[in-house]
Amino acid sequence: MSNFPPLVFSGVQPTGNLHLGNYLGAIRKFVALQENNDCIYCVVDLHSLTAQLVHEDLPGQIRSIAAAFIASGIDPKAHIVFNQSAVPQHAELAWIFNCVARIGWMNRMTQFKDKAGKDRENASLGLLAYPSLMAADILVYRATHVPVGDDQKQHLELTRDIAMKFNLDYQAHIRNGGKGIDITVGEEPVHAYFPMVEPMIDGPAPRVMSLRDGTKKMSKSDPSDLSRINLVDDAETISRKIRKAKTDPDGLPSDVEGLAGRPEADNLVGIYAALADRTKADVLTEFGGQQFSVFKPALVDLAVSVLAPITGEMSRLLADTSHIDAILRDGGERARARAETTMREVRDIIGFLQ
Ligand code: TYM
Repeated sequence: MSNFPPLVFSGVQPTGNLHLGNYLGAIRKFVALQENNDCIYCVVDLHSLTAQLVHEDLPGQIRSIAAAFIASGIDPKAHIVFNQSAVPQHAELAWIFNCVARIGWMNRMTQFKDKAGKDRENASLGLLAYPSLMAADILVYRATHVPVGDDQKQHLELTRDIAMKFNLDYQAHIRNGGKGIDITVGEEPVHAYFPMVEPMIDGPAPRVMSLRDGTKKMSKSDPSDLSRINLVDDAETISRKIRKAKTDPDGLPSDVEGLAGRPEADNLVGIYAALADRTKADVLTEFGGQQFSVFKPALVDLAVSVLAPITGEMSRLLADTSHIDAILRDGGERARARAETTMREVRDIIGFLQ
């Protein structure tokens, strides 16, 4: 265990519409964590260039993620909501981490392999270095807990590797400056400047799957819009997508074991459970033995009752951009001050004159 003061950090990319996977896998957890923690939530606009270099409306996409955070219940006064490019210390620390991390570590990332596809030589250097910037996002605040969906697990393991290598490489400098905190890694005592982050992946929906194929992740980049429920979808669209969602011919089983080998049924029950804050077992006690023709309308009603107020509040917030812009400006200022405190120490540890 680490003795670092607990701090929650997470980020979401402003690329395309947010979907139910982002909401259940990440944003809903952000909201729950703010009750008992100091939290920083970031719209990672620098990262979004690795997916799309030129956006038609980047400002609009950044505002829309910030609006989704706030409409979902994040309190930007008690916590910090900002966009990454407003805090240049992220990019500064990412450069240092590019020199700490090894190319082999980056090459092993499954997201890099998926996104680069067959033509790796032609992928941007930014896409390869993506996890290094992600580590910087978290560690520039020395954050300890990171709520994310299951697809980010490998990136967070890499964040720990980068933190550990920095701590060990600069061990003597960290000790001399008296800036570290004693932790134990395995049996080893280490005077650490950066914490070993704890991923927070568990939850009712760590991996929401496509509505068209229960073996594929629900994703912004799926060409079929029917594969996902977007936070901006209206009730009619949500209803149509759930009615058309792929299922198998059997009815619902009465226990969780009965979902094995039935990815689409498992996914819909998981979505229902997450939206209702119930367990899958509990949902199956209610719907076991019923046909999808009964379950799907109940899921539509539930999804609309949870999402419609968020969608409504998002469009209200986005109607007057000055409010969202003021929130991001204020969050950016507070984030910058905290990030600069870390970077002053990091520059000192490394030996840069300042
Ligand atoms: P991004 O923008 O792709 O996704 C935002 C969050 O949504 C989660 N998520 C899902 N959860 C469950 N089921 C799904 N189908 C699903 N799809 C997406 C993601 O796991 C994520 O938590 N690299 C990050 C952004 C990032 C970040 C960070 C996160 C940059 N720096 C620092 C944490 C800490 C990403 O691309 O998320």
